[in-house]
Amino acid sequence: MAKQRVLLTGGAGYIGSHTYLALVDAGHEVTILDSFANARQSVIDRLGRIIGTEVDVIEADVRDAHALGAAFAAGRFDAVVHFAALKAVSESVEKPLDYFDVNIGGLTTLLRVMDAHDCRRLVFSSSATVYGVPDETPTPETAEFRGMNPYGQTKIMGEQILNWLSASDPRWAIGILRYFNPAGAHGSAMIGEDPRDIPNNLMPFISKVAKGELPKISVFGDDYDTPDGTGVRDYIHVEDLARGHVLSLARLFESGEGHLVNLGTGRGYSVLEVIAAYKRASNRDLAYEIAPRRPGDVPIYVAAAGKAADVLGFRTEKTLDEMCASSWAWISGPHSGGTD
Ligand code: UFG
Repeated sequence: MAKQRVLLTGGAGYIGSHTYLALVDAGHEVTILDSFANARQSVIDRLGRIIGTEVDVIEADVRDAHALGAAFAAGRFDAVVHFAALKAVSESVEKPLDYFDVNIGGLTTLLRVMDAHDCRRLVFSSSATVYGVPDETPTPETAEFRGMNPYGQTKIMGEQILNWLSASDPRWAIGILRYFNPAGAHGSAMIGEDPRDIPNNLMPFISKVAKGELPKISVFGDDYDTPDGTGVRDYIHVEDLARGHVLSLARLFESGEGHLVNLGTGRGYSVLEVIAAYKRASNRDLAYEIAPRRPGDVPIYVAAAGKAADVLGFRTEKTLDEMCASSWAWISGPHSGGTD
């Protein structure tokens, strides 16, 4: 595939940093733009150590049209992979305006600047959350939108904005990727998921219990209509997910047209199965207790993975055990838990 100049917004974050490595590995020239509001500066040094050269990075907020304009004038980008957004469901219920401002305002600001600079290739981070409580599982891309919270609503609105934009001007080619549950860390154990606060999500929470930083896991509900009563999710290794973005980008340039695909494995695991897998990987005793259901949680999210295979040639390669092993290598290693 031809080398492209890519602007990677949110490239210092969890999925963004892994995608940075996948894009560089595929031969692209990548500039990270990140506000570092929810990412660590040291990620950039560690990325540089992995690739063996300096990382091109711009510290800016995606809502800052002036900074984006300057970045485009200097970088002459062929495409954007857009991660920069807020993503915590419960926070979005408390602070909806922050979510509309960053996730929608940031998106439209970016699109205007791209348009002004004749850059109309975009890969957009969406989420399985757009399905709300789906009627069908595994859930196909044709399932209807069901917003359950402001965060999910911003992903629905973002997709709709992009669809109207593509409809208005065929020069745009936009890949919309609906992620299921990313997990695991890079094989180098130098980057991974590293929330500053107590994690909301299952895998980082388990990893901190395994490390001894948190006492026990709360299993949110054991009376769902699932095989063992706990919530089922389609966990996808973050390195597989990152590769999905490289394929999406390639497809945009090959076809000149957009696409919409789920990125998941097509296989679900329960909370108890994930705890058991992490226990094997870490060789630690993991204390847990059954707690009440978490408000707004969905019983089962599993991707219908066929369309991503057909359209992008995307197939996941890594197992749940590999997600747990790489997460443990990262969280128990020397590079996680920095204070910067
Ligand atoms: N869970 C626990 N205990 C915890 C955390 C989670 O039992 O401490 C359970 C949840 O109830 C759920 C499963 O583990 O059954 C996964 O929960 P996560 O919080 O890890 O992930 P979610 O599926 O709730 O949400 C994630 C992202 C969302 C995204 C969604 C799409 O956080 O942004 O996946 O599938 F929209």
